[in-house]
Amino acid sequence: MKNLLRKILFGNIEIKEYSTITIEGEIKEKVFLKVENFLFDISKIHWLLSLDPIVFGVWFKNNESKIALDEKTWCKMYLGVSTKSDFKIAKKNAVAIIMLHYFDKIEETDGTLYLLKLEESKIYHVNLLKIFLLFNKYYKKPKLSFKKYKSLIAAYSYPRRVRIISFKQDEYLNIFPMDLLGEFNEADYYVFGLRHTNTTLLKIIETKKIVVSEISYKYKDLIYQLGKHHGSSPPTLDSLPFKTIQSEKFGFYIPEWVYNYKEIEILKTINLGSHMLLWGKVVNEKKIKQPASNLYHIHFLQYLKLKSIGVNYPLV
Ligand SMILES: Cc1cc2nc3c(=O)[nH]c(=O)nc-3n(C[C@H](O)[C@H](O)[C@H](O)COP(=O)(O)O)c2cc1C
Repeated sequence: MKNLLRKILFGNIEIKEYSTITIEGEIKEKVFLKVENFLFDISKIHWLLSLDPIVFGVWFKNNESKIALDEKTWCKMYLGVSTKSDFKIAKKNAVAIIMLHYFDKIEETDGTLYLLKLEESKIYHVNLLKIFLLFNKYYKKPKLSFKKYKSLIAAYSYPRRVRIISFKQDEYLNIFPMDLLGEFNEADYYVFGLRHTNTTLLKIIETKKIVVSEISYKYKDLIYQLGKHHGSSPPTLDSLPFKTIQSEKFGFYIPEWVYNYKEIEILKTINLGSHMLLWGKVVNEKKIKQPASNLYHIHFLQYLKLKSIGVNYPLV
């Protein structure tokens, strides 16, 4: 009966929490931020940085925005599918609308990273019946409220790119994947949201160094393997199932299959709740080979929505 109902409602698609995809060409989603009467296309300048609470970082260059957000500021984020940077289209096609409240900020000479906390979200990917059914039959977990479930779907309605982090301190090393992070096209900053339970977090804060690499989706299995040693000791160099190279400045170990890496010095940390924000500056960058198609996470409901309107990101 359960299978029959699933087939009627969702067809033959395997139901998951998150879909792993790759993207050839441009990302098809657009994200807008409305602050009072001002509107910004933040598609390429916003990042998801914490899950409990859900916190986004949005970067505004000094010369771009005269707006100053503070404790009193409320904003609305619209996530939708559109190839144009047109708010009216994005609003009409919005799959998720998020109400946000100012949380904190990091000010630099060339811009400001605003941290915005999710307070409420609405989702429109599929009808309410399907959303409830999925929640009750497939996604129900002891600590997951319906409100939290909706907010995770909203936050993952924009593809979140996966990268590889490398760290080393004396004989200790760790290599693990992250998708709560962001880089800046025109500035040399990098921002990370790392869970407090991560065994390497305190060491990173102590040494103020981290290396982040870009990877092809083809290494998905290895990438997931690297994310599995929760709470236990990370694998030693000899036991890694791939060869490594050492980064130029820090000497951190990087899988030989990455296509570039950036060495980053951590300038600041902010506790976001479940995650610690690490704010850093790129001190060295190395291209190793031609860029390849990356690995991304989107929520399964976003994948379904995209499929229904003919946007088919390849599943990997
Ligand atoms: C694809 C993928 C993305 C991940 N992204 C993050 C992330 O952004 N932040 C984070 O704290 N952990 C993330 N994790 C979990 C970490 O990679 C790591 O495995 C976890 O923190 C446990 O590491 P530890 O045992 O060394 O403490 C991700 C895991 C996977 C598989």
